Amino acid sequence: MVTVTCIEDLRKIACRKVPRAFFDYAEAGSYSEETLRANRVDLERLRLRQRVLVDVSSRDTSTTMLGEKVSAPLALAPVALTGLEHGNGEILACRAAHAAGVPYTLSTVSICSIEDVAAAVSKPFWFQLYVMKDRGFVRSLIERAAAAKCSALVLTVDLQVLGQRHVDIKNGLSVPPSLKLKNLLDMATKPRWVASVLSGKRWTLGNLDGHVKGMEGVKSLAQWVGRQFDETLSWKDVEWIRSVWPGKLVIKGILDVQDAKLAVKAGATAIVVSNHGGRQLDGAPSSISMLPKLVDAVGCEIEVFFDGGIRTGQDLLRALALGARGCLVGRAYIFGLGAGGEAGVAKAIDIIRKELEVSMALTGIRRIGEIDRHVVVNDD
Ligand SMILES: Cc1cc2nc3c(=O)[nH]c(=O)nc-3n(C[C@H](O)[C@H](O)[C@H](O)COP(=O)(O)O)c2cc1C
Repeated sequence: MVTVTCIEDLRKIACRKVPRAFFDYAEAGSYSEETLRANRVDLERLRLRQRVLVDVSSRDTSTTMLGEKVSAPLALAPVALTGLEHGNGEILACRAAHAAGVPYTLSTVSICSIEDVAAAVSKPFWFQLYVMKDRGFVRSLIERAAAAKCSALVLTVDLQVLGQRHVDIKNGLSVPPSLKLKNLLDMATKPRWVASVLSGKRWTLGNLDGHVKGMEGVKSLAQWVGRQFDETLSWKDVEWIRSVWPGKLVIKGILDVQDAKLAVKAGATAIVVSNHGGRQLDGAPSSISMLPKLVDAVGCEIEVFFDGGIRTGQDLLRALALGARGCLVGRAYIFGLGAGGEAGVAKAIDIIRKELEVSMALTGIRRIGEIDRHVVVNDD
């Protein structure tokens, strides 16, 4: 057993433990993966400013996101099919997040349902909404999130059509799923994964199962979801959602200044500057390259969150330096989940939080509120 010291270690363990089709699904980006790569490359390009002889003996990574106290400016991003990376994955990830004092976001396309997660945890979580053509179903999802006391609705707006991930098609992880024989044989070589998934609460799309008339089983539910992404989605729909959900509303998938301004006008509490982890528009700029522009445009009016490519606490510090109020991580915790279930997610959060704390010290920062653009070295 390797000693885990970084997210990359968790990634390598997850790669061994999780069946190929589901590991590839988590790791991949769309098409040529240009944007996926740009997310990492552009973060790594930012140099942090080393400062010395500052008393950093008392440091604090805690702050607030959406008015909620958090132990670090970090939240777990919505990730579809988390429960296929490890049985009960959504419940385990939410528990680990809450124990670490950071928010968890449940995807619409989760394996465990809103109600499953709510029954298994003691604090509110955030719920991510995809707007389906069936607005009656969307309304019922929002009502279920409210009944489960979700503390924020995260409306994802960058997936009205699906960017293609080549590897998913090659693995048969398409709509409807038709896994190849080689993938089924591969699963058989992962007995711990099989045991965890078989002992899990569900093996289907939890938020849909039993809620969509005439649709049962993963295959028909996946087909239904595939048909339901709504290409007509517009700001008018956001207006409607705002009227149905009076609580905190986060609009996720904003990468353009004009869209950020429209999100403010639509009554968003926050936006997530995001390109869906490089899984949608390939060729889009990295999230980090757009962050400062969006912060300048709307950062005084609403909270600006960031995601895309964060694998270390240094990355987190870079995004905070460029103005993010908080950051979401996707793959970093999914690798932890695949590597070690709830303990693996806890480890992923702990690694990033500790790296942030040390990097704050070495840049002469004691509190999150002290972080600003001066933390990043300016080339000129
Ligand atoms: C496997 C996977 C599934 C995802 N599913 C969703 C989803 O259901 N809803 C959503 O809004 N974003 C989804 N995302 C995007 C993440 O919420 C987030 O924007 C992205 O993972 C951030 O990039 P990172 O993985 O480099 O941290 C998914 C990402 C991954 C990797």
